[in-house]
Amino acid sequence: MPRRRGQREAFWKEGRASFREHLDGHEVRKKVTAPTRDARKSSVSALELVTRSPEETHAIGARLGSRLRPPEVVLLVGPLGVGKTTLARGIAEGIGVDDPLSITSPSFALVNTYAGKHTVYHVDLYRLGSRHDFATVGVDEFIGAQGVTIVEWGERLPIRLPSVIIVRIRDAGGDRRKLRIEAAGKLLKALKKDAPGGCYLERESQ
Ligand SMILES: Nc1ncnc2c1ncn2[C@@H]1O[C@H](COP(=O)(O)OP(=O)(O)OP(=O)(O)O)[C@@H](O)[C@H]1O
Ligand SMILES: [Mg+2]
Repeated sequence: MPRRRGQREAFWKEGRASFREHLDGHEVRKKVTAPTRDARKSSVSALELVTRSPEETHAIGARLGSRLRPPEVVLLVGPLGVGKTTLARGIAEGIGVDDPLSITSPSFALVNTYAGKHTVYHVDLYRLGSRHDFATVGVDEFIGAQGVTIVEWGERLPIRLPSVIIVRIRDAGGDRRKLRIEAAGKLLKALKKDAPGGCYLERESQ
């Protein structure tokens, strides 16, 4: 159920008190626990993986998606054409969306919605500001409040959330991509354990 306005405001307010990291000017918190679920903080950590094909990136997304529970938010950060939508398709598959390969960037509407085990909101903020004013898109009606939200160009999100997962993608030459996943240690541990065969772990950090 969507939160009512008062509840949403309390949610943002509580989140603002615990921001930890600046992400290209947008403050986000890497800690994972949503205040509505549990006020305690869990340890921040990051996992760096290298993929060598779009299929491997998709497969990591699917493993991540299968572990996400509402109202999780995943910010995808990386340059044009690096693989954000490829990863988003994998995440959607992991959440049980039918035909995830048909997912394309919602560049006109900014948001596309898919039904899976949880509702998936796929947001693309590339054109934010040129065609759309964020306030008119209605993202704040669901983000961090219901379903699982995947945000391409996540660093452009103009609102602050108390609980996000960040995936930074970099081109490492050819079909190689470096994925840095910042999330709760528990989630990363599980991801590390069943990363697809071709991927390899580059680093993990606190
Ligand atoms: N290891 C890899 N992981 C992901 N994509 C890869 C990889 N190697 C090559 N690619 C190619 O890179 C492209 C990624 O496209 P994709 O639409 O996912 O990027 P994007 O970051 O969403 O782009 P945009 O910024 O336009 O939204 C695809 O053509 C894909 O085949
Ligand atoms: Mg895209």
